[in-house]
Amino acid sequence: MLSAQERAHVAQVWDLIAGHEAAFGAELLLRLFTVYPSTKIYFKHLGVCPDEAQLLTHGQRLLEAVGVAVQHTDHLRAALSPLADLHAQVLRVDPANFPLLIQCFHVMLASHLQGEFTVQMQAAWDKFLTEVAMVLTEKYQ
Ligand code: HEM
Repeated sequence: MLSAQERAHVAQVWDLIAGHEAAFGAELLLRLFTVYPSTKIYFKHLGVCPDEAQLLTHGQRLLEAVGVAVQHTDHLRAALSPLADLHAQVLRVDPANFPLLIQCFHVMLASHLQGEFTVQMQAAWDKFLTEVAMVLTEKYQ
């Protein structure tokens, strides 16, 4: 559970991302596929050019889901339930991939926010994204 201060840090960073979901999301995916090539196996249908339409669309969907989570930090399980069903029961994404995505998320944030991305913000985002990943992977049984 995030503290009030952590929630404020998460919201503050989200305000800087909101409106750029497609571009930031596509960059996040490109970082993921480049730094951890094994993750691309789940996305054989996506190209790897930054302006590729399907990459931008999936990046936008991913970040919009993160935006929903930002609005529901106290009710993540309910807010992300359909997405958890999808990842666990339909896509069967190996949970080991989630920390790799979180790692790339931090770098994506740092590269855009630079000095604005304080250590406290990073710590809050790490905790928040770890909670999101826990919810998305807990239905694997
Ligand atoms: C689909 C979010 C992590 C693989 C999706 C969708 C969303 C989403 C919103 C689209 C759902 C729909 O179209 O109804 C997230 C979030 C994540 C996460 C918020 C973590 C914070 C991952 C990871 C992988 C992954 C780590 C694998 C490396 C996929 C795949 C699809 C998908 C293969 C289907 C893509 C397609 O149909 O084109 N995810 N995801 N996801 N996700 Fe995730």
